[in-house]
Amino acid sequence: MRYMSIWIGSLGCKMTGVSWRAIFFGFLLTALSSFAESTIAATDPDALLRRMTLDEKIGQLVQRAGGRSKALNSRLNEDELARVRASRVGSYLHVAGAVPLRELQRVAVEETRLGIPLLFAMDVVHGYRTIFPVPLAMAATWSPTQQEAVARIAAIEASAAGLHWTFAPMVDIARDARWGRIVEGAGEDPFLGAAMARAQIRGFQGNRLSDADTILATVKHFGAYGAASGGRDYDTAEISERALHEIYLPPFHAAVKTGAATIMTAFNDIGGIPTTSNSALLRTLLREQWAFDGMIVSDWNAINELIAHGVAEHRSHAAALALTASVDMDMVADVYANDLKQAIEADPRLMQYLDQAVLRVLRAKAKLGLFEDPFKYHDAAREAAVMLAPAHRSAARIAAARSIVLLKNSADLLPIDRTKLKSVAVVGALAVDNLSALGSWRAQGREADVVNVFDGLRAALPGVDVRHAAGADPRSADESGIDAAVTLARQSDLTILMIGEHFDLSGEARSRSAIELPSSQLVLAQRILATGKPVVVLLANGRPLALTWLAAHASTLVETWMLGVEAGSAVADVLLGKTAPGGKLPVQFPHATGALPASYAARPSGRPADPDLTKDSVRYLDLPITPVFAFGHGLSYSPFEFSGLEQSTATLKRGQVLSVRFTLKNIGKLRADEVAQLYVRDPVASSARPVLELRGFHRVTLDPGAQQIVQFDLQPEQFAVYAEHGQWQVESGRIELMIGSSSQDIRLRSHFNLQESYATSTPAAAIETVTR
Ligand code: NOJ
Repeated sequence: MRYMSIWIGSLGCKMTGVSWRAIFFGFLLTALSSFAESTIAATDPDALLRRMTLDEKIGQLVQRAGGRSKALNSRLNEDELARVRASRVGSYLHVAGAVPLRELQRVAVEETRLGIPLLFAMDVVHGYRTIFPVPLAMAATWSPTQQEAVARIAAIEASAAGLHWTFAPMVDIARDARWGRIVEGAGEDPFLGAAMARAQIRGFQGNRLSDADTILATVKHFGAYGAASGGRDYDTAEISERALHEIYLPPFHAAVKTGAATIMTAFNDIGGIPTTSNSALLRTLLREQWAFDGMIVSDWNAINELIAHGVAEHRSHAAALALTASVDMDMVADVYANDLKQAIEADPRLMQYLDQAVLRVLRAKAKLGLFEDPFKYHDAAREAAVMLAPAHRSAARIAAARSIVLLKNSADLLPIDRTKLKSVAVVGALAVDNLSALGSWRAQGREADVVNVFDGLRAALPGVDVRHAAGADPRSADESGIDAAVTLARQSDLTILMIGEHFDLSGEARSRSAIELPSSQLVLAQRILATGKPVVVLLANGRPLALTWLAAHASTLVETWMLGVEAGSAVADVLLGKTAPGGKLPVQFPHATGALPASYAARPSGRPADPDLTKDSVRYLDLPITPVFAFGHGLSYSPFEFSGLEQSTATLKRGQVLSVRFTLKNIGKLRADEVAQLYVRDPVASSARPVLELRGFHRVTLDPGAQQIVQFDLQPEQFAVYAEHGQWQVESGRIELMIGSSSQDIRLRSHFNLQESYATSTPAAAIETVTR
């Protein structure tokens, strides 16, 4: 029956103008249409579009909430099914489950006139049931391969639960840690951000979107959501055109060129134009210049919010603005559902935009193969088999261990020498807080699935007396448990102190005016460190913290972020030396909130920052000129030597590649990791260039004494300077190269000359450096 209706659909559109055939087929169609048309749709989006009524077209652009993020499917009542039957819905979010979604899909496919399947979406950000480290922690792996692997697993689980579409990756660059959503992205740097964006697109979308274990990815939130003023979520981005193109847009470009199927607009505005109505950004730059032909979805209610922004007078005006800008799908505002028709009647020119939007939605459904088999994502047996599969758990443990950043180890407490260890105090409420381990956006992650840090250490230390004391809760000022924690620390050979932020202090609408440790956490740390006993401090947080006191007083500091279901096992693996730490900070940790926004890639100014306070320079009087922990910082269990820098050429022309090679050697006694980082600087250009810009990185694991040659291949366009109108310029002249272990630990230097000046169109930081 499916194929018969497809056949009928395609004949139906070819017969126009041939009257006898029209009569014959008209008869045939009338006889069969009520059943056939309501059963299955044509597979060709263009043919389908020609058969759609205005209401059916608008329906495709409507995304409704089928539930709430914490009560999935809860809104799928009879009224909602009536909407589906009336072809007034194109997609649902906050829904899940192979079986319930099969039934919903059946209604769409079998009980509507054209039988167009629905798209089911959810925020599957860092795992579906198997929760991996939060995205900021994944960025700390500096391993796109690792990132791709976990996104792949997230897609396998989500697709098995009936989902076609995730609202991830979030690729917003963030240089102001007050912004709570910094936890959802890859940090401060566009080059690292672009690499992590590509990896997630590949992981979610797999090799072929038509495979049943792949899902549509959404790159969000286009274009400068992370530049929210003062780090206040949803606030305006007041940034230069250069900052937009050089800092915020490259990860989006990288994701688009990797084949990202959909893009979400940001809630906020740039210089007064909300992205959701920004035609210059969406239609001209994204669609025309970058050739993005995928679907654009608004953020939640963002089309309606154009009124609150003050750029739309009423809802049909908002609908017209968003559609004109080329926003295809309206997430839950129902502005398209209820007010777009009026806008089209008032301005029939919108019809062409409507058709384009509908086509893009239909094509997204076609890419997934839903017209051929609308039920391919609804296999209950597969759903039962894949969730939290042992292989997924092991991947979560590896990813979590690789996300950990060893910030300081000055007393060589790590790895822990367990030979004389009889008792360990695990102090801190976060060490047993399973929800915090899952972090923001936990999809179907469950507290019960989590191995927390206390559990992990107990399991890894059989025969050792491992006890827990909460000390102080990071959510309250109550310090009444601190005395008991201090007593436990005094009685124990070693204390593992876990402090930081509760998970609910970062994420959407979770901006803080101060990034210092919550006061109870700092007091707890001060009291425990005052015991004078050996203490390993673990940090758990979704944003960089200002740690000046702690960094000065603790000998041993380990950044563990929010590591997901295997948090505790991974922490134990690293502390006990089963795995060497090797993560690096994807964003700097400043001395104080007042230093924000901040980045290693600052411009020098006419008076470059100088530690000498008698000189007038670009700095604060009351803060050092360098952060507590720099971008790219992270230690391991052995030091590495960088040597033998060679480069293939001293001059570089258009079409040529510059290969830079050097040797990395583990010169310590333990197996260890290093992430070699390549920074560049253009010392004289038409506009002032950052003092450092990342253009290459490579993570290696080496045994003691072992060495490896690392090679980065660079092309001239990677040094281009933003010009105007989305265009870039390669400028001839000297480029400096710096290779090292962090942005503040440069070990090798060299330079070369760009020989030619020419225009180009790719954002420099979006270009991948081939690394061997
Ligand atoms: C609002 C958030 O900004 C966005 O990132 C998310 O995808 C949607 N809500 C849907 O949950």
